[in-house]
Amino acid sequence: MQELRARVNWTSRVGVILAVTGSAVGLGNFLRFPGLAAKYGGGAFMIAYVCAFLFLGLPIAFAEWSMGRYGGRHGFNSSPGIYRLIWKNRIAPYFGILAMIVPICIYMYYVYIEAWCLAYATRYLFHAMNFGPDSRCYERFFAEFVGLNKHGEAMHTPGEGLLGSAVFFVLMCFVFNFALIYRGLNKGIEWFCRWAMPALILCALLVLIRVLTLGTPDPSKPDQNILNGLGYMWNPVKPGSTFWQELANAEMWMAAAGQIFFSLSVGFGIVITYASYVKKDDDIALSSLTACAGNEFCEVALGGLITVPAAFVFLGPQVVQNPPGTFGLGFMALPMVFGQMPLGDFVGFLFFFLLFLAAITSSLSMLQPGVAFLEEGLGLNRRASVSLLGFITALGSTGVVYFSKDLIALDTLDFWVGTFCLYALAAFQTVLFGWVLGAKRGMAELRRGAEIHLPEFFRYVLQYVTPVYLLVVFGFWLTQNLIAGEGGSNRLQQLVQDPVVATVMIFVLGVAVLFGLFIGQAVRNWRRAEAASEEVMI
Ligand code: ALA
Repeated sequence: MQELRARVNWTSRVGVILAVTGSAVGLGNFLRFPGLAAKYGGGAFMIAYVCAFLFLGLPIAFAEWSMGRYGGRHGFNSSPGIYRLIWKNRIAPYFGILAMIVPICIYMYYVYIEAWCLAYATRYLFHAMNFGPDSRCYERFFAEFVGLNKHGEAMHTPGEGLLGSAVFFVLMCFVFNFALIYRGLNKGIEWFCRWAMPALILCALLVLIRVLTLGTPDPSKPDQNILNGLGYMWNPVKPGSTFWQELANAEMWMAAAGQIFFSLSVGFGIVITYASYVKKDDDIALSSLTACAGNEFCEVALGGLITVPAAFVFLGPQVVQNPPGTFGLGFMALPMVFGQMPLGDFVGFLFFFLLFLAAITSSLSMLQPGVAFLEEGLGLNRRASVSLLGFITALGSTGVVYFSKDLIALDTLDFWVGTFCLYALAAFQTVLFGWVLGAKRGMAELRRGAEIHLPEFFRYVLQYVTPVYLLVVFGFWLTQNLIAGEGGSNRLQQLVQDPVVATVMIFVLGVAVLFGLFIGQAVRNWRRAEAASEEVMI
C-alpha cells in the first residue's frame, strides 16, 4: 500500500464535478464538434454521436471513475500505480506509459491553440481584429500568426508588437497553466474551475443570445437567416440524400466516436487521476453522470447552437460545409462574422475568452496525471515534478510552434497521440475494467455510496458492447488511416518520408522511453515501500 504522502482530496463534490466537467469542456465542444456535425450532415451525425456517447463515452467514463476511486482508496493517484493495483502483472504499470504520453503530448499542441484563443480575445479587447469584409485578410492574418506558410514563421512578430506574437501568448498560457498546477489540486485546479466554469457558461449564453437574435442580417440574402442556420445544423436529411444514406457512412461513425473520446476526456488517463482524489464513499455514479451531462450541455446546446448557425447566416452554407481546415471555422470564418455583426468586437471577445477559459480547464487536467505520477512514483516534491514536466512540455511545444508549416507537428501529434494512442488507451482501460477487475466488481465499486441506481444494463455494456464497439471503430479507423490511407496519403508512408513527422515521432518515442524508465523506478520504490510496511505488520 502506498501511504508515503499526505492524502489529498477534492474539498467538495461541486469542486470535483466542476473540475471533471472543466477537463471535458474545451476546444472540442466549441470548435471540433460543430465542425464535425456540419460536415457529416447535422442530425445523422447526432445519431452516431448519441450511440457513441451511450456505448463508449459514458461507460468508459464510469470505468475510469470507478478504477480511479478504487486506486485512490489504496493510496494511488497515477495510472501506472492504479493499473498495477488492479492487474497483478509485471507489465501492468507499463501500460501507464500510454496514460502519461497521451495527456502530456496532447498538452503540447493544445496549449498552442489555447494561445490563439487568448490572442484573439486580447485583440478583440483592443479592437485589433476587424480586417473588413474581405475573408482573405482574416485567412492571411491567421496563417501568418500561427505560421502556416513556413517553419519558424510563428516565432516572428508580424510587426504588431506583442499582440501579434504567437510565442508571447504561448508563454503566457504556459505560465498560467504551470502556476495553477504548482498551487496544487485544491488551490490551483479546483479553485480555478470553480469560477472559470460558471464564467464560461455565462459568456457562452451571452454569445448564444446574440447569435439567436441575428434574424436575417442581409435582406438581399433571405435564405441566410438564423432559422435556416439552425436547420442546417440539425436536420438529419440533406437535399439530394436520404436519412439512411446519411447514416450509412462508416467515416461518420468513426468521427462521432473520436469526438466523444476527445470531448469527454475519456481515454486520456485524466478522469482516472481526478477520480482518485474523491473520498472513499463519495457518490461517483452521480458525479460522473453530472460531469458527462454538463459536457454534453456545453457541447450540444451551446457549442452546437453558436458556431455553425452564426457562420451560416453571414457566410452561407458553402463556407460552413467546406470550412478552411479543422479550426478554420473558429479562427478564420467566425472573426469575419463578428466583423459584420453589431457589437461584434464585444461578442468576439466573449467568444474567444470563453474558448480560452474552456481550454485552460482542459489543459490543466492534462498536466495533473504527469505531476501526480512524478510525485507518487519518484517521490519528487511539487517544485521538482512541476519543473520536470514543464521542461518536457516546453520542449515539445517549442517543436509544435516551430514546425508550423501546414501545422504539421500539431497534426502529427493529434493523429498519432490524440487519436491512435487515445483509442489504444481507451481499449486497454475497457478491458482492464470489464475483464481484469471484473465488470461485476467494478460496478459494485461504482455503486458504493451512490444515490442513484445504475441499471445492471451498464455492466453488460461495459463487458461486451463497449469493447466490441471500440474494436470495430478502431479497426475501421486503422484500416482507413494506416492501411488504405486517408485521401490517398498513407500516414505510415508519411512517417518514413517526411523528416518533420519522423522527428516529432522520435520525440514522442523519447518521452515514452523516459516515462518507461520512470515507471520502472516507481515500481521498485513501491515494492520497497510495500516490503517495509509488511515488515512493520509482522
Ligand atoms: N475534452 C477537451 C476538449 O473537448 C480536451 O477540448
